[in-house]
Amino acid sequence: MSFFIQSYNYIFDKIFRLFYVVWNRASLKKINKSVGSNLEIFGFARLRISQEDQIALDLQLEKIYQNAISAIDISGKSAYDLSCVGNIPLSLESLATKTQIEGLTKITMGILQSNPEVGQYLGLDVSQLSFELTLLCNIKTQNGASKIGSQNFHRDVYHSFYRGIKIFYAYSYREDINDGAFSFIPLTTISANDRPSNKHYSRKAMEQRRFDLHPFIIKSLPSAEILKEKQLMAIDTYNCFHSGGYITSPSFCRLIFQVVVSPPQTPNRYSDITRNHFGRMFYFNMIRLRNILRWPRK
Ligand SMILES: [Fe+2]
Repeated sequence: MSFFIQSYNYIFDKIFRLFYVVWNRASLKKINKSVGSNLEIFGFARLRISQEDQIALDLQLEKIYQNAISAIDISGKSAYDLSCVGNIPLSLESLATKTQIEGLTKITMGILQSNPEVGQYLGLDVSQLSFELTLLCNIKTQNGASKIGSQNFHRDVYHSFYRGIKIFYAYSYREDINDGAFSFIPLTTISANDRPSNKHYSRKAMEQRRFDLHPFIIKSLPSAEILKEKQLMAIDTYNCFHSGGYITSPSFCRLIFQVVVSPPQTPNRYSDITRNHFGRMFYFNMIRLRNILRWPRK
C-alpha cells in the first residue's frame, strides 16, 4: 500500500475516531487499549462464555427453536413470507416469553462482563452500551443465486459511523459454505477504510445483490471466515463485509442468536424524524461522509 493511502487512512481514522468519541462520550484511553486486539486487527474475535452460561443459553435457545418449529409450516404453506430474517412470527418477542428474554439479557450481560475487549473496542463501559437481542431464523431453502438482502455481502453501514459490534451464536446451523453458512471478510483483507468502487458496479447489481458480485469482494473470498456452530463470535459488522447466509437443506430451520451492541448514538435513537432534528441530520451525514471517504477499490 502506498505511503499516500496509508497516511490518508491514518488521518481519516483519527478524525472519525475523534467525532465518535465526542459524540458518544466514549473514552479514547479505552479505545487505545484495544490496539493490537483481535477485534482491532481482524474485526472479529471469538468470545469466552462460561460453561454455566452456555448451558443456560442452549436451554433458552432450544425452547425458542421448538417454538419456531411449531410456529412454521415447514412444507411451505405458512401464511407469512418467512424468508425474511426476523419476520413475525419468528421474531424473538413472538418465540420467547418475557422471562426467557430477561434470562437471555442476563446471559448477554455476563458475556460482556467476561469479554472486556468488546467494550474497549467501542471505548465504552458495559453500562453505556445498548443491546438489541434478535434472532436470525431461516426456513426457506435457497441456492447461492437466489440470495436476497443481507444474505449477500454488505456492511451494516447504518449501525454506527465508526465502529459497531454484533455478537452471533449459531444454535441450529450448518457451517458448510456450500450449505449457505454465515461468512465474513477480516479487516486484514478488506480494511475499514476501503470500499468497493461503484465505478464498474451497476446500481441494479447493488440493489439486487448488494456487493456480492463485486470483483473486489469475489477476489477476497478465499480469506473469508465462516461462523461456526455454537461458537460465540463478536464481529464489527459495520466495518467487516459479511453475508448472512441461507439454507439449502430441505425441512431445516436455522436459528442464530444475535446481539446488536451499540454505542449511545444509534439509528434507533433517531428513528422519530420529528424529534432531535439536528442530531439526526448530523448522525446520518456522518454515516454518509464516512462511506464516501473510504478509499475506492476495484
Ligand atoms: Fe449485516
